[in-house]
Amino acid sequence: MSNKTRAPGLVRRRLAVGATAALLGAAVAVGSGLGTAASAADPVSLTGVILGVGADESQRVLTWYSSADTAQKVQLAPTAALVNGEFPATAAAFDAIGGANIATSGGYNRHATITSLKEKTRYSYRVGGDGAWSPTYSFQTQDFEGDYDFLFFGDPQIGSSGDTLKDQAGWEETLKVATAANPNAELLVSGGDHVESANNESQWTSFLAPDQLRQYPVVATIGNHDVGGKAYEQHHFTPNTDRSAPYYDNGNPAGTKSGGDYWFVYKDVLFIDINSNSYAVPAGGGNVGDSAHVAYITDVINKHGAQAKWKVLVYHHSIYSPASHATDTDNKDRREHFTTAFSQLGIDMVLQGHDHSYSRSYAIKNGQKANPDEQPGAAEVFPGPGGVIYVTANSASGSKYYDIKKPDATGTGIRGNGPDPLNPDSYWYNSVQNQEHVRSYVKVQVRADKLVLENLRSGTCAAPNASVEKGSWCYNTSEAQPVGSIVDKVTVRPYHGSGQDVQVAVPNPAPGEFGWTIDGYNGLVDLGTAQERNGTFFEATGNINPILVTDSRRSLAPWSISASAGEFRDGDKTFPGAFLGWTPFLLDAGAGAQPGAAVLSAYDDQGLGLSVARGLAAAEQGHPRGSAKLGADLSLKIPDSVAKGSYRATITITALSS
Ligand SMILES: [Fe+2]
Repeated sequence: MSNKTRAPGLVRRRLAVGATAALLGAAVAVGSGLGTAASAADPVSLTGVILGVGADESQRVLTWYSSADTAQKVQLAPTAALVNGEFPATAAAFDAIGGANIATSGGYNRHATITSLKEKTRYSYRVGGDGAWSPTYSFQTQDFEGDYDFLFFGDPQIGSSGDTLKDQAGWEETLKVATAANPNAELLVSGGDHVESANNESQWTSFLAPDQLRQYPVVATIGNHDVGGKAYEQHHFTPNTDRSAPYYDNGNPAGTKSGGDYWFVYKDVLFIDINSNSYAVPAGGGNVGDSAHVAYITDVINKHGAQAKWKVLVYHHSIYSPASHATDTDNKDRREHFTTAFSQLGIDMVLQGHDHSYSRSYAIKNGQKANPDEQPGAAEVFPGPGGVIYVTANSASGSKYYDIKKPDATGTGIRGNGPDPLNPDSYWYNSVQNQEHVRSYVKVQVRADKLVLENLRSGTCAAPNASVEKGSWCYNTSEAQPVGSIVDKVTVRPYHGSGQDVQVAVPNPAPGEFGWTIDGYNGLVDLGTAQERNGTFFEATGNINPILVTDSRRSLAPWSISASAGEFRDGDKTFPGAFLGWTPFLLDAGAGAQPGAAVLSAYDDQGLGLSVARGLAAAEQGHPRGSAKLGADLSLKIPDSVAKGSYRATITITALSS
């Protein structure tokens, strides 16, 4: 037996790649033909490349600046397919779109969405086109199901210390420390305030300097320092973004500010990221602020909440925090606007920035401590129905820290900042609050039945620590509290109602494709010596070697296995394969396999027997996934006019799938 497979899907893919390559070639030819002295002297420069999160774990969004208004794209290939750093002809291309930047930024912005990534694959990419390309960067996809970790970073606010390069150094060091300690972290989530001055491109250049921002997908969040210009939107294109008027603090998406709310599902977490700059105060264009955010979050959860096990909100303005912004009137307003809705919507965790200090709240239900008995600094928390954990991240860059303020006499109501009865130095809503003037980041481990939250030091009092270098105090003992040490750690257990949730982990099918093999050793199918019957014909019987078919595709697409027999030959003596017939059957049922019809030898019906392709087994669209073992009884009948000999034929097996 020999085997051949035909996979129409594979052929189509090859055709598609070929077409892309041809178009690329045409574009290059046109570009060189029309090239001018000016364009030759001023090659297109591609800067500020940032890898952003996509709509799900199989996507990424790339955003960058270009010096020229040319057609551009992302080129992507598995890193293993690159030869000496060169992209193969089969590299995928994703066309970019974008527009002109505002005058102070200069140049143009571009973004492209990468889709159909495969899990557990290292990819290389570059952006550009027409011979002008960025350097090649790479990222790694992980398992698309199951546990993962993401990292959360507060207010890098590059430039706020007054020394952009010192701020950059601290930001770079935090990302380096965090990803070195967590190389398989899957998202870098921002708490907003990327820069001090919204449209200051030198600050943006420093913010975008760390290479980790091109290696791990970034979840961008807009802060009050980012909102005042269009540079934020030029640098961060986000998935599923609603740019309606209420999500802009001036009510004008076409104006001079940035904004928008967006969501995405990453494995078992639904993330919703909102522009908290737009809140309660009506602004030009009929801004309705927080009520619009709540409607947006409600709508996203109604439509997509079932796709995830966890719901995590991200926005900049911390409504429960311990330092300078803890008593801000707008944050007290947000508590009133948000907290009952968040409890009713089943939000698990809220990630915030703005206060340049670390805090972890008690479980908060409808704006009140859910369980009065929850102890300060508890290592394990059971938020119960409606309990939400609010986290505020300290500065990731060290550019600025805010000092913790004492509770006041405003009580423990929804707008109150009174003391915690269990820990009077702390606000009533905070389980843990911390300020050492040391850089830190938050790590969240997403597990099947818990979220594990940690606040980890990414620095000490030593440089890079711009705020401390410029004279602010620092409390940290590098012996007891070194880089990587834990400021706070808590395990948050979800509420499952009064029933019992049952979960089963289902791994990927292996190999996740349609395929077939000869089951076991593919020995000669020996029909033995034919027996003469009735003095008129010879007959021999046997069985084909069993064929194992596996179909683990999610498409549940139809498949079929057929076979045909060539001419029987012994030297120059032959007889037709049509004298071979068979009766297919299933040795093991599965994968929707139905055996093909029996085929008679041409000796019996003067037909074509197995000299033409005949179905051994097939499955229809929608069949179950699995495997089947196929067999067939072979029956050879030949007229006794065939000369004596030891004949052999080849049965060719063909698989078809779509
Ligand atoms: Fe802020």
